[in-house]
Amino acid sequence: MDLTTRYLGLNLKNPLVASASPLALDIGNIRQLEDMGASAVVLPSIFEEDIDSEIEDIERLMAVGNSETLSYLSSAVADNVGPKHYLGLIRRARAAVDIPVIASLNGTSRTGWIDYARQIEEAGASALELNVYFLPTDLSLSGSEVEARHIDILAAVKQAVAIPVAVKLSPFFSSVGHMVQRLDQAGADGFVLFNRFYQPDIDLEDLTLVRDLKLSNKGEIRLPLLWIASLAGRIKGSLAASSGVQSAAEVMKYLFAGADVVMTTSALLRHGVGFMKTLHDGLVADLIAREVNSLAEIRGRMSRTALGAQEAYDRVNYIRILRGGKYIG
Ligand SMILES: Cc1cc2nc3c(=O)[nH]c(=O)nc-3n(C[C@H](O)[C@H](O)[C@H](O)COP(=O)(O)O)c2cc1C
Repeated sequence: MDLTTRYLGLNLKNPLVASASPLALDIGNIRQLEDMGASAVVLPSIFEEDIDSEIEDIERLMAVGNSETLSYLSSAVADNVGPKHYLGLIRRARAAVDIPVIASLNGTSRTGWIDYARQIEEAGASALELNVYFLPTDLSLSGSEVEARHIDILAAVKQAVAIPVAVKLSPFFSSVGHMVQRLDQAGADGFVLFNRFYQPDIDLEDLTLVRDLKLSNKGEIRLPLLWIASLAGRIKGSLAASSGVQSAAEVMKYLFAGADVVMTTSALLRHGVGFMKTLHDGLVADLIAREVNSLAEIRGRMSRTALGAQEAYDRVNYIRILRGGKYIG
């Protein structure tokens, strides 16, 4: 069975990737993920705020520093600008496993933190996932400004590193496909669809904001599935599916839609990292049952391009659903 796939120009042994989560803070987990069949691991994000605060600390010390602190700091600045432990994590992860280790850089503005991407590359990351988790609550900010900000940040990161860069994107653009196309043209090597946003709830007893993190369910594959199916075969960059994978069935659906890799976090947090093997074995069993010898035979077979534009993914389908009389739940 040929499960190999290409993602961000990397040759992967199969399409199953552990997405960014705290699971990968532990080298033992990363090793186990590799043993259980993961073909790559994304490290949890390092945030612009972490990086900037460390840069600010150093600048503050420089401002008040005497010659002793300055000489200490000049080497510290040269060696360690940016959170040191994250670079250490990349190095240790790379030394521990043979599969690619993808670092995740999470920020929203084009400032000094972007230089940190270079250090991530030097530490040995195989690729970089760029997560622009941005909530445009400033009412004066237009959609095109938000889009320009994404392009700007990508361009700056691409300029800083030679390793491939994926963009983990929000589904909340007025034209998701066009945004992907612009980032594709600006040099993004791939797209992780989608970033999952975490909205607070309100506790009516205490009148406080509840900031809990709900793990995903399989119904959440629908939005990424739609966009992966719409984009497959129409852009240069690769496509990673992220959200809602709870079993091999969701993995298969994403592959049929046209994903190059399928990522998972919630299922691993729910069932343990050993669940990667369940996904892997389930994927192989499904492909055997379909008498398929390689992923290439099924990838994108249910994409918009493969089915024809009129068929399933556009407005026509919406009208059919509303009038179809088939309700679930
Ligand atoms: C506890 C937890 C921590 C996460 N941390 C990150 C992170 O640091 N950076 C990031 O880009 N995504 C992060 N994510 C999002 C996941 O990578 C993934 O995109 C999301 O959970 C949807 O996939 P799933 O349905 O398989 O869980 C996190 C998710 C969870 C549940």
